[in-house]
Amino acid sequence: LTRGPAAPDLAGRHVVISAGGTREPLDPVRYLGNRSSGKQGYALARTAVARGARVTLVEANTGLPDPAGADVVRAGTAVQLREAVLKAAADADVVVMAAAVADFRPAAYATGKIKKKDGQEPAPITLVRNPDILAEVAADRAREGQIVVGFAAETDDVLANGREKLRRKGCDLLVVNEVGERRTFGSEENEAVVLGADGGETPVPYGPKEALADTVWDLVAARFG
Ligand code: CTP
Ligand code: CA
Repeated sequence: LTRGPAAPDLAGRHVVISAGGTREPLDPVRYLGNRSSGKQGYALARTAVARGARVTLVEANTGLPDPAGADVVRAGTAVQLREAVLKAAADADVVVMAAAVADFRPAAYATGKIKKKDGQEPAPITLVRNPDILAEVAADRAREGQIVVGFAAETDDVLANGREKLRRKGCDLLVVNEVGERRTFGSEENEAVVLGADGGETPVPYGPKEALADTVWDLVAARFG
């Protein structure tokens, strides 16, 4: 199946996309981070621009060049990402949380570099929970009919875990990636299933991130009716 010139089916819509991975600082030179590249979020931004949307991309630590035609807002930590996403979501028709948000951050930030001391074991790092941005956006829709999309990487019983997460987060769509062993749909690892709160289940075969992005926008556009 090939796609012709993108249909401008998101014209007049404001879409907010988070991408990348947050970094939670320990001291001026160190952080807790994750391996998210941000590429899926950028593919969502590019395809949304191509389909006519006004796009706000909230970017965390990707180092990727700004996609043409998108407004890019930078955020470093989960707390900063929350601020930026909530601000942009105030007049958004769609919010897509593709960013990998750190679940925890160090309870304390050392304003000076943490130094080792001879003969002393390192102090343990105490962590605290970060806010759940997706759950908050979904619970507190800034606009009537706003569509909220999450991402999840799961192992083991991927679909059951995804269903449970969709319900817990309260979002409309959840893109579930299987990590680890190959299974279901007969493809390589990394294929996705898009779960809908309406019970819908859309498998997306292994392929470029743009193809997954376009499937997400197809499902979003169908919900606009
Ligand atoms: N997410 C978020 N805020 C957080 C954590 C996650 O907005 N503090 C969003 C992610 O951007 C993603 C979705 O929630 O869209 C699912 O992330 P995931 O890490 O799979 O969910 P968690 O609830 O953190 O569950 P887990 O314990 O499996 O990590
Ligand atoms: Ca998590």
